[in-house]
Amino acid sequence: MIRAIKGTRDIFGIETKKWRYVEQKIIEYARKYNYGEIRIPTFERTQLYLRGIGGETDIVNKEMYTFTDKGGRSITLRPEGTAGVVRAYIENKMYADKSLKKLFYMGSMYRQERPQKGRYREFRQFGIENIGSKEPLADAEVISFAYNLYKELGLKSIKVEINSIGCRTCRKNYIRALKDYLKPHYEMLCDNCKRRFDTNTLRILDCKNPGCKKITEKAPSTTEYLCDDCKEHFNEVLHYLDVRKIPYSVNNRLVRGLDYYTRTVFEVTTDRLGSQNAVAAGGRYDYLIGMFHSEDIPAVGFAGGMDRLILLMEEEGLFDAMDEEKPDIFIVAVSNDVRDYVIKIAESLREQGFSVETDLSMSSMKSQMRRAGKLNVDNVLIIGPDEIDKGVLTYKNMKKHSQKEIDIKELENFKKILE
Ligand code: HAM
Repeated sequence: MIRAIKGTRDIFGIETKKWRYVEQKIIEYARKYNYGEIRIPTFERTQLYLRGIGGETDIVNKEMYTFTDKGGRSITLRPEGTAGVVRAYIENKMYADKSLKKLFYMGSMYRQERPQKGRYREFRQFGIENIGSKEPLADAEVISFAYNLYKELGLKSIKVEINSIGCRTCRKNYIRALKDYLKPHYEMLCDNCKRRFDTNTLRILDCKNPGCKKITEKAPSTTEYLCDDCKEHFNEVLHYLDVRKIPYSVNNRLVRGLDYYTRTVFEVTTDRLGSQNAVAAGGRYDYLIGMFHSEDIPAVGFAGGMDRLILLMEEEGLFDAMDEEKPDIFIVAVSNDVRDYVIKIAESLREQGFSVETDLSMSSMKSQMRRAGKLNVDNVLIIGPDEIDKGVLTYKNMKKHSQKEIDIKELENFKKILE
């Protein structure tokens, strides 16, 4: 038996119905906020992620699915969508008309993390990228999109946490202050954080190790070190969130696992999924485009984990009323000599828009009835040779437990029969 690879999973049955429901809502929401869909490749040159996400991040260091293809190129399965969208934006010269570009995407991402509930090696994200505005209005729209979408989906347990990690200049001052603060505690940091001390100091704030957490509790906060421009930017983002009535809490410990962020970072979290508490996350990345293009173009975006979103919706009982998909009508052939007739009727009902199931195994009438029962179908049509001769058939309404003979002509408008 060949089994699926650890950290991947099959989604089928009623699960797919949940996924389609959520996907549809995301598409509707993107439309409401005027984000156009972009579909980008699932693999790119490794270099894109190395430079884009950052060589000292966990994603690049430990989690990427990287391989050399037969042409000797280093290829990586996308661990996230932003770098690919930025590559597409530049390659397709979307900057040419200097206007704001608002893009959304959905699809599988790949990270070799330790699988657990809510954390997979192939997982699905949707995301939006708002490219071309440096204004706090854009940050606030992106955060509102996330919050409002999740509220509309019915989630009650979500919270928005927000922080500013400053720009290139003021972040340097902060990192210096953080290092000064951490130096006396260096020996007590976990091995990972000892390494991060020089390579990615900010990430120490995000360490889950209880010892490191304790040490960073009293660390200086990023917002104390913001330059005037960054401070003003942050305050305005908060102002526009207030205008939009988006509840949030400022979390000065919030830093993100990807290197491209500047200024605003945020997460949408829940307390109902254990340690995998982030259902969406994002922020501003004003320098990422400049790493691959001749000029910096400011941008802000976020991505939501769809597997976690669906888990959380289940947890909050939001799918409790959803039932398994079933056909509208089952047609029973009383004997094999009416099969041709059944085919024609089934197709005519499908043309009218109904979902129709028939028997494909030459089963007995009894076993067809059993199958209709198992499928929990509401409407059953029974067709036998004698009835065909008379131009009639039997219609059984399974919900009302009623049965009547109807004229075959009435099938031309089956909706009427249902009324
Ligand atoms: P991220 O925080 O790495 O950000 O991922 C965003 C979301 O994807 C997480 O909050 C989580 O819900 C989900 N996620 C991440 N890893 C896994 C996993 N292994 N299993 C299940 N779900 C997972 C980004 O990816 C950025 N590109 C977001 C962004 C867009 N920033 C600006 N624009």
